[in-house]
Amino acid sequence: MPKIKFTIITLFREAIEPYLSSSMMWKATDKGIVEFDYVNLRDFGLGPHKSVDDTPYGGGDGMLLRCEPVFAAIESVKAKDPTAKVIIPTPVGRTWDQSFARELSNTSKEEPRHYIIFCPHYEGYDERILSLVDYKISLGRYVLTGGELPALIIIDSITRLLPGVLGGEQSAEIESFSDGDNLEYPQYTKPADFCGLKVPDILLSGNHGAIAKWREEHSGHVI
Ligand code: ADE
Repeated sequence: MPKIKFTIITLFREAIEPYLSSSMMWKATDKGIVEFDYVNLRDFGLGPHKSVDDTPYGGGDGMLLRCEPVFAAIESVKAKDPTAKVIIPTPVGRTWDQSFARELSNTSKEEPRHYIIFCPHYEGYDERILSLVDYKISLGRYVLTGGELPALIIIDSITRLLPGVLGGEQSAEIESFSDGDNLEYPQYTKPADFCGLKVPDILLSGNHGAIAKWREEHSGHVI
């Protein structure tokens, strides 16, 4: 059983799947730490054209995702797992940050979690859809064309916090100064001298205590 299952409700699976099948997300899947499932919103569309959107009451530009397909899609997942929590990426949500990611990764709890991420598209969605939502998440004060990029960022930042995903990549000395998130100090690899651009001597000293202190002093503390 994976620690976290993400079910992504989207019209554009092809925009999401390549990222989740690559690199660390693939490794996390391969190790059984996360599982990704996809629901095509179009399957719940109305009429012969499987329509999922309509014009806004009161007028205005563009189309809104309508309630019926979205409710049906979310309920189809909840029917199999009533404990699943629903996330909607939206510019008017709570701002996503590292502590929010930690909260949803919630690694202290034993039981597996299941997040349904509904990716809005077009000009917006019918407000009544929010009655099914547990977490409204904003990636920042700008507007994207859809929820797919935010969904990937949310999934990536939760998944990398799960035990076993980045496992063994942080030395004990580094961990004594950070929880694994706070690695924003300058880092270098070989060569020690690249065209006159030198790696700080202390990092070549082998003195782990001094190195840890240097890193702490030079940490950006962005998180
Ligand atoms: N959808 C469109 N813009 C967004 C943003 N800034 N954050 C989350 N979801 C969005």
